[in-house]
Amino acid sequence: SEKITVPMIRARKQGPKISMVTAYDASMAQIVDRAGVDMILVGDSVATTVQGHEDTLSVTLDQMVYHAAAVNRARPHCLVVVDLPWLSYHISPEETVRNAGRLVQEGHADAVKLEGGRKRLSVIKALVNAEIPVVGHLGLTPQSVLTMGGFRVQGRDLQAAKDLIADAQAIAQAGVFAIVLEGIPDSLAALITQSVNVPTIGIGAGAQCDGQVLVYHDVLGLNLGHLAKFVREFAQLAHTATEALQAFHQEVQAGSFPTDKESYHFDKTVLQALQQ
Ligand code: KIV
Ligand code: NA
Repeated sequence: SEKITVPMIRARKQGPKISMVTAYDASMAQIVDRAGVDMILVGDSVATTVQGHEDTLSVTLDQMVYHAAAVNRARPHCLVVVDLPWLSYHISPEETVRNAGRLVQEGHADAVKLEGGRKRLSVIKALVNAEIPVVGHLGLTPQSVLTMGGFRVQGRDLQAAKDLIADAQAIAQAGVFAIVLEGIPDSLAALITQSVNVPTIGIGAGAQCDGQVLVYHDVLGLNLGHLAKFVREFAQLAHTATEALQAFHQEVQAGSFPTDKESYHFDKTVLQALQQ
């Protein structure tokens, strides 16, 4: 299959729906790619899923470059979008373009993603002017955890809903080619989807978006802890992995691993000469 491009995703406002899954290394990227998923997100969710942090605030630009480069070594056909981490786009448009430029030049990102609405217009425009495609991210924006006071559904009251619609229209106007909508009521996501000319990709935002995104560990059931309401586990790989590792442990103890077939052998004559 051919490489998916930014214009191809932009054109999916007319359908078919877009699928996007996170990946943080080459092995994950290869599996997501073989499944035929449209987009890979090298998400700053690597902080919680892989690094064991409580939130995404401590991921660095160097780490995002490292994960993006690992994903792209798998040469996925998926469009690879890489998150700009917290503080990499909050200082100035100039710093933002330099930082996003590293994700493209060193991480081989096809596009970058950043969180926030009208307050991010100047950096979105600077990135688009530098020929770096941008995905927006509105609603429950995890990098705002301190100001939100936790991870809570957003846009529930009238003013907050109106603000989110205005944010979506403004960033679409500024040139984002898609918008992730996270943690908002389904009918607000439907209204936003109708009011912008770029695809919306939902997570905890109902069925009316132009696409859906989930975290790799969530889709595959690799989590042991609490699951958000919007997660569907399409497999139980944590369970499968535990069973496989238990079997390995038991066969090592029993001496039944490895077998003759799983071992390397001498030529008979060498063995005889060695035993004399
Ligand atoms: O980092 C991430 O995984 C994300 C998705 C939840 C959209 O931003
Ligand atoms: Na993210």
